[in-house]
Amino acid sequence: MKLDGFGGNTEKTWILNRNTDRVEDFVELHIKKRVCFEVESKNTIDTIRNSKKKSDELGIRSSLVLQPGKWRKSLNSWRRTQVVEPTLNRSDNSRLLTARASRQVSPSKGRKSVFLNDCNNIITDYESQVLKHCDQRKPLRFEVVYAPSKMMNTKKIGEGAYGEVFKYTMKRKKRDTRNCDVVLKVIPIEGSTEVNGELQKTFEQILPEILISKKMCSLRLGKNNTTHGYANIYKVSLVKGKYPEHLIKLWESYDEEKESENDHPRIFADDQLFIVLELKFSGEDMSSFKFVNAEQSYYVLQQIMLALAVGEEECQFEHRDLHWGNILIEPTIKKEISYKFHTKDLKVYSKGVKVTIIDYTLSRITIDEFCNFNDLSSDEELFAASGDYQYDIYRLMRDELKNNWASFAPKTNVLWLSYVTAKLIDGVYYKSANTKLHKLYIQKLRTFQSTILSFESATHCAKQVFDLN
Ligand SMILES: Nc1ncnc2c1ncn2[C@@H]1O[C@H](COP(=O)(O)OP(=O)(O)O)[C@@H](O)[C@H]1O
Ligand SMILES: [Mg+2]
Repeated sequence: MKLDGFGGNTEKTWILNRNTDRVEDFVELHIKKRVCFEVESKNTIDTIRNSKKKSDELGIRSSLVLQPGKWRKSLNSWRRTQVVEPTLNRSDNSRLLTARASRQVSPSKGRKSVFLNDCNNIITDYESQVLKHCDQRKPLRFEVVYAPSKMMNTKKIGEGAYGEVFKYTMKRKKRDTRNCDVVLKVIPIEGSTEVNGELQKTFEQILPEILISKKMCSLRLGKNNTTHGYANIYKVSLVKGKYPEHLIKLWESYDEEKESENDHPRIFADDQLFIVLELKFSGEDMSSFKFVNAEQSYYVLQQIMLALAVGEEECQFEHRDLHWGNILIEPTIKKEISYKFHTKDLKVYSKGVKVTIIDYTLSRITIDEFCNFNDLSSDEELFAASGDYQYDIYRLMRDELKNNWASFAPKTNVLWLSYVTAKLIDGVYYKSANTKLHKLYIQKLRTFQSTILSFESATHCAKQVFDLN
């Protein structure tokens, strides 16, 4: 399996060939984090069990190296590797079947909507709802909406099991000289072809993601509580048809440079539907951002805390997956970042940067009468991972929620704040780590870390930090 994004430390490790169950080689890997992933569920597939048994005899453990922050994708990629391994003995059908079965091993039950009160207006026509949120009456042609003539400096910047992420500069009208960097998240939906080892999402499954993205974006206009701390979504479109050729070329360049783990976009039929989310480009993620010093990161933490607190107050929001890949940081010339919290105006020093929270795949929210959440109650694989504090957080969340993922437990936001603080103390890159100021603020972060878990919610924490009681 390719370990995209790993860098830094060098580590020697044994490689276990999953087909022969033999230790093949002793190689040098350049990895940052080794996250062991033990497969222990009762559903454990034979392939894994066999190799685990042999490897245990040899004194090593069958493990999957997950990239922190990319567990779902790494996992999918690994599962696919189990199926398409080229040296797989074709006569050994049982192995192939068990490997295939592994895709169904303890699947997450997926996104659910729960009515909090009795009400009759149950949504059944999800396609119409999606179209409504796209301001469309029918799907638009992919190649026309995203024609190269409308986009400048386009490149692929990332990928997930759900699809591809591109960035481009929007061509503005003549008199408007401002350039605007836009991110496109392209998600195939409703098709029967499996993509990146997953079934495509349906209208029903994509609708909550659209609703949550829009709701969190709308918090910048809230009445009693406001924040600009969530991704700014410009537009959602439902498009259909051939994948634009210029995006395919960019997909291929990315593949050449970084080796994509995703399927080639040419696998899509000519009548494939896609949801395209257009978001404001909001900088680099926290894992690759270079902070000036801990004073800057201390105020980044305050920005995250207030954004979460506003989310809790406005829509019982829990992010539930706030690892450093889902926190974006960009430069700003503003001295302060403004919030409204319980009708009070609050300001946090920017120290030159603005934070944006993204990716609501696991988030929980209440909008009107609906509670939306992702049911992870039987996702044993996620809770079996270890090696980074991130993976402890999933287990701590499960304990906090008593495995009832519909309930509102804002403590989960506190758990992620604790994770973020740990990363700011000991994970992120600082340009000036040898100054007194830096050391002073590292100490402040440590003090904060020692008390954070005593708070019940981000709101509770913000009230204390900003003296709002
Ligand atoms: N608004 C944005 N601005 C800048 N980069 C973004 C933005 N949205 C997403 N990205 C980039 O795309 C990556 C994947 O997006 P994300 O929404 O986190 O999906 P997933 O983690 O499910 O793949 C992010 O880690 C980030 O690097
Ligand atoms: Mg993400």
